[in-house]
Amino acid sequence: MTTIIDGKQLAKDQNDQTKQRVAALASRGIVPGLAVIIVGEDPASAIYVRNKHRKAEQLGINSIVRRLPATISQADLLAVVADYNQDPTIHGILVQSPLPAGLDEPAVINAIDPRKDVDGFHPLNVGRMYTNLPGNYPVSCTPRGIMTMLESLHTPLRGKHAVVVGRSNIVGRPMAALLLNADMSVTITHKFGSNLRALTTTADVLVVATGVAHLIKEVDVKPGAIVIDVGMDRDENGKLTGDVDFDGVKDKVAAITPVPGGVGPMTIATLMRQTVDLCEWSEQRAK
Ligand code: GUN
Repeated sequence: MTTIIDGKQLAKDQNDQTKQRVAALASRGIVPGLAVIIVGEDPASAIYVRNKHRKAEQLGINSIVRRLPATISQADLLAVVADYNQDPTIHGILVQSPLPAGLDEPAVINAIDPRKDVDGFHPLNVGRMYTNLPGNYPVSCTPRGIMTMLESLHTPLRGKHAVVVGRSNIVGRPMAALLLNADMSVTITHKFGSNLRALTTTADVLVVATGVAHLIKEVDVKPGAIVIDVGMDRDENGKLTGDVDFDGVKDKVAAITPVPGGVGPMTIATLMRQTVDLCEWSEQRAK
């Protein structure tokens, strides 16, 4: 029997825990604060940001959405980030990606205080993760949420082979690092990889984050694999679907995430959890 990994339920469980942590902070007069900066009018980004804001409000997090015009200058955007860096009521800062053309996204990420880097995108935090440094620091929310999903299966990962298809800074690269930190052998490839199938069919854990609808089909997976689909694609009828042909693959594998209802809800739940982490860590530093 294939396990369909229920991202909605796992996200609900995690959000319940986050809510309890927010309540514990509130009893000490502390409210976690999240500032989300969105520049321009990208429709997909607008939906993501609205979902993050709603969830934060439900959990008792003080959520601020700062909408800025696509015409904003780099200097003015950096000044907004600097304001939130200084604001003691804000514990997490997120600049929604992608930024409009003409803005220097790496420079903006660099300008976020690493202690408020709720996305875990700042090079200091990326370096900590890559070197598997112990201690408290944020990591990219989608891969961190996927690690929670994998842990929920109680399947030992050590020594097994993970293949990550996708090499973005948001998902593929940090995903590979976290799987390596979990003692897996890791192969990273991407949609241009020649003979992808030769790699994907060796994966005990296959994570696919390419943005290509149904790139991975039944012949591309190893029997008994765990398949994590990060895709948020549209099929020919405009319906939301993933990078994996779910119906074709599901009976061959041990576990698989659906789209929707898989990785998406866990990403938002992890962002909420990490906002509260940052708030708690700032309180600990202040002691
Ligand atoms: N755009 C798509 N996913 C993300 C994310 O996790 N963080 C940010 N900042 N932008 C995104």
